[in-house]
Amino acid sequence: MREAFRDRVAIVTGGGSGIGRALCLQLAARGAVVVVADLDLAAAEAVAGEAVGAGGRAEPARLDVTRAEDFEALVADVAARRGGLDLLFNNAGVGVLGEVADLAVADWARVLDVNLRGVVHGVAAAYPRMVAQGRGHLVNTASILGLLPATPLMAPYAASKHAVVSLSRTLRVEGAAHGVRVSVACPGFVRTPIHATMPVVGPRAPPRGLLGGISPEACAAGVLRGVARDRAVIVVPGSARALALLGRLAPGLAVWLAGRYLAKQRRALPPAAAPADG
Ligand SMILES: NC(=O)c1ccc[n+]([C@@H]2O[C@H](COP(=O)([O-])OP(=O)(O)OC[C@H]3O[C@@H](n4cnc5c(N)ncnc54)[C@H](O)[C@@H]3O)[C@@H](O)[C@H]2O)c1
Repeated sequence: MREAFRDRVAIVTGGGSGIGRALCLQLAARGAVVVVADLDLAAAEAVAGEAVGAGGRAEPARLDVTRAEDFEALVADVAARRGGLDLLFNNAGVGVLGEVADLAVADWARVLDVNLRGVVHGVAAAYPRMVAQGRGHLVNTASILGLLPATPLMAPYAASKHAVVSLSRTLRVEGAAHGVRVSVACPGFVRTPIHATMPVVGPRAPPRGLLGGISPEACAAGVLRGVARDRAVIVVPGSARALALLGRLAPGLAVWLAGRYLAKQRRALPPAAAPADG
């Protein structure tokens, strides 16, 4: 797998934390030239510094993926200075926890802007260049929730991730003839700061923070394995693959289980906040 990334020029959005950070460090360790792009420049600088300190090649960049012009400018700059762009990891993401009844339009907008439009902006900036180069690999981070038929309490997030899965699968078909590869990463639960920073909206949302999950390093290693093998849909870890299989083979059962999960969450709430289950 080491050879798959040697001397490749890669941009990773959301590279300052969690899965993105682990992707940056592992790509740099495998010989790639990594641009750590994040809204949080200090975090990007820290990760790039860590990668360089370990003997790799990396540079930080401030990027807000919701700004199409900024994304375009970054990709143009990197491609001009580095002689092209081999890999773009559209990884930046945010979430919101709560029942749809309690969400404001602004809650939806924030999640869709980063998770879906951010990916669209990355595709718009990088894909035409990759087509012109006749090579390149786009790797979009969706989620296992982008493969499951129902995800109570996370509707905007799940909707954005379903859209990213669909966009990625379609672009893979279109890009093949141009030599451009497209993969979508669908991790299960990964222990990253996203779970603590995700806003909780309304009185009916469950407490933040679930137990279990894999490390961001294990997640990134699984994703890079899938990228090196040019997998269309990369689901990590094995337990998430089992869940994805359930969603595909028995969607009715998956929806029923989602309903049971919601009912359990509601039972745990104070009586005033809990709606009656129908
Ligand atoms: N952690 C999980 O359990 C899990 C599971 C499945 C999928 N994912 C997805 O993995 C990706 C990475 O998440 P993570 O868990 O590492 O989260 P994280 O919060 O640790 O990292 C997200 C990074 O994205 C950056 N970011 C946020 N908004 C941005 C913007 N507008 N422009 C540029 N950067 C921005 C943040 O500054 C942060 O550094 C996300 O797309 C997330 O939805 C996470």
